[in-house]
Amino acid sequence: MTTNQQLWERREAAVPRGVSSMHQRFFAKGANAVIFDAEGQRYIDLATGIAVCNTGHGDPRIIEAVKRQLDLFSHCSFQVTPYESYVALAEQLNAIAPIDGPAKTIFFTTGAEALENAVKIARAHTGRRGIVTFQGGYHGRTLLTLAMTGKVMPYKAKFGPMPTDVFHTRFPIAYHGFSDEEAIEGLKALFASSIEPSAVAAIVLEPVLGEGGFYTASYAFFKALREICDEHGILLIADEVQSGFARTGRIFAMDWVREANGVTPDLLTVAKAMAGGFPISGVIGRADIMDAPDPGGLGGTYGGSPLGCVAGLEVLKIIDEDDLCERAVSIGDRIKARLRSLQQNGLGFIGDVRGPGAMIAVEIVKDRDPNAPNPVLTKAIVQAAADQGLLMLSCGLRGNVIRFLPALTAPDDIIDEAMDRLEAVLTRIHLA
Ligand SMILES: Cc1ncc(COP(=O)(O)O)c(C=O)c1O
Repeated sequence: MTTNQQLWERREAAVPRGVSSMHQRFFAKGANAVIFDAEGQRYIDLATGIAVCNTGHGDPRIIEAVKRQLDLFSHCSFQVTPYESYVALAEQLNAIAPIDGPAKTIFFTTGAEALENAVKIARAHTGRRGIVTFQGGYHGRTLLTLAMTGKVMPYKAKFGPMPTDVFHTRFPIAYHGFSDEEAIEGLKALFASSIEPSAVAAIVLEPVLGEGGFYTASYAFFKALREICDEHGILLIADEVQSGFARTGRIFAMDWVREANGVTPDLLTVAKAMAGGFPISGVIGRADIMDAPDPGGLGGTYGGSPLGCVAGLEVLKIIDEDDLCERAVSIGDRIKARLRSLQQNGLGFIGDVRGPGAMIAVEIVKDRDPNAPNPVLTKAIVQAAADQGLLMLSCGLRGNVIRFLPALTAPDDIIDEAMDRLEAVLTRIHLA
């Protein structure tokens, strides 16, 4: 048997250190919510390939659909000869996305590419240059999306100069003492100090900050942003790359906002979980805006790969058939209840426990103090949990957030087993 250690040594020799891996364990096989490493060690997967496998590993419905497509063709490029699955997936997303009026959808391959193209579409529609994003936001690693990302280490350092005309403002995080009102004042100050609102093409934000730490923008904040956008002719772009496809208890996190106060974005970016692990991304938006770029202005050789399209159609069916939105809420409630009970039982390093649906985060702090993040302990918990067969990810601007992103197809006994293991790890650390 080749060990994880042997593979790690080969990895270090062959692959640059710039692409880091959170765990020194080589993934060998997955089965729904569980995975196995190269040594046959079993883990409950709370990372799902960074919020991709919402439908679990190896769902036979997705595998069958992709196999059927593989027997026909794997690639032809939509730009050369279109195919029906692309159009069918666009039609379905247009019908369900929280967009006001008729919608259109275009597909790409990665989340960053979706964001890049959302900016191109917004600029073509408005004839404006400026893009406003949020500190702590994450939009990708290509140079434009890196400029939009609001975290320097490890993403932006050494990679400048950044594309211009991207401006950052602060995201409202009540837990850190920064309110919606202060965030709106900050945006207005940006308009006074850095770019006039009439030159801003779009404000781009994640409804729930992903890499930034799973902080949710309030309905009231979205309403205020929508009003500002409407007043100044600015487009509102919701980046749902991490929050989409049932993760938050709705197909899109913006569905919650629309239900609460009718606010919708003009464009919505999607990727990750939309095809259960097959690389595809997209921009869904108001038809009049989506048609702004000229023919040939958008695309890419692999954009909307037929394998991604058939997998995407299957994912939408599974979300519906298996009630994954409802399941996300139920799984999330189960995890949050366990974390809150540990918090109440005296584990003072458990700070805020939060998140919609099954997009759950716990903030690791010193002595319950929101202003005393503990990134060292956070890292130690993630590593200790892996030793106990639990695969988790950390995140957050301050590196002190642990995120829970289980498969939405995980049965209750797997979620309970995961939380039992985590409880054992946390209790041991508490008592040490
Ligand atoms: C909210 C958000 N936007 C964009 C991206 C970039 O997606 P990708 O890594 O597929 O380029 C990510 C990736 O984590 C993300 O979480």
